[in-house]
Amino acid sequence: MKQSAGSRDAVLVVGGAGYIGSHMVLALLAAGRRVIVLDNLSTGHMELVSPAATFVQGECGDRGLVERVLGQHDVGAVLHFAASSLVGESIGNPLKYYRNNVAQAIELLSAMQAMHVPHFILSSTAAVYGDPQSMPITEAHPTRPTNPYGSTKVALERLLVELEPVSGMRHMSLRYFNAAGAHPHGGIGERHEPESHLVPILMQVALGQRVHAKVFGTDWPTADGTCVRDYVHVCDIADAHLVALRALEGGAASATYNLGTGKGYSVLQVIEAVRRITGRQIEVEAGERRAGDPAVLVANADRIKQDLGWAPKQSELDTIVSTAWKWHGGLS
Ligand code: UFG
Repeated sequence: MKQSAGSRDAVLVVGGAGYIGSHMVLALLAAGRRVIVLDNLSTGHMELVSPAATFVQGECGDRGLVERVLGQHDVGAVLHFAASSLVGESIGNPLKYYRNNVAQAIELLSAMQAMHVPHFILSSTAAVYGDPQSMPITEAHPTRPTNPYGSTKVALERLLVELEPVSGMRHMSLRYFNAAGAHPHGGIGERHEPESHLVPILMQVALGQRVHAKVFGTDWPTADGTCVRDYVHVCDIADAHLVALRALEGGAASATYNLGTGKGYSVLQVIEAVRRITGRQIEVEAGERRAGDPAVLVANADRIKQDLGWAPKQSELDTIVSTAWKWHGGLS
């Protein structure tokens, strides 16, 4: 049932013009929620934001602005997708990552505390785990990030735990593995500038916009020598947030959950799937290992299934690749 304004059903999606945030906006709208997007458009794209959402351009670190937005729209929950999220870049520029991911989030959380907003969902990451000691990775795995990006998310997760007793704010920290794919009907998908993610790079090669893709390391201790990742469809990630939001609203305790499928694919397996689905020749070149890449990252996502009943529904590799291909214009 659609709730009326004034019942704090409105959700503020910070970073709603980005890849995962824009899919979240569509999921919330489909669920009948009022949605406000706050985005500074530094890496997001206005055309990814549904016109059915209220859009505010600005910084989440602008406490005054955030307080006004929270108050004006009677926001009951904040979903925070706005962060710098490239492992390699974070190693070269830690200050940027602490400034964008931690300092700005502190202002956002301060505004929420001042306005008594009760629920918060953090986009966290598998990068919090560092070099995996065991596989698949459960939430109980030690968090020893090996790069500033992962460290900023560990800092935020910790802050949320420490803030709860004084603010009453409950939260969910969702640790994404590799988000990929595109909305099957929504006309939105993955685009970064410059592009560094595997699936969109392969799409660009398929479309002839790039000559070849580079495989970052072929001598990893894996079956075919290339890195293995747990690819989870962006719509499944959005779904998990909806489930987590409803749980918070229903009184659930704060929690931390992995978002993955439990199944890993190597870079070569992803390339093979792209060749098969697009029918295009994908030229690849063997390259050096990339700094900060662990060999294998695969989630154990049993906890969120047990607690909240979430399981991925469209994260088969073929679905991920075919939705990405459709969005990139390869399929009509
Ligand atoms: N890869 C290549 N060639 C490329 C791009 C990527 O071989 O041109 C490989 C990478 O080495 C890696 C895999 O493809 O093994 C996936 O790489 P992505 O760059 O697509 O994604 P990442 O695994 O580096 O990072 C993603 C998110 C991060 C998050 C991390 C956690 O972008 O924010 O997952 O697992 F921290």
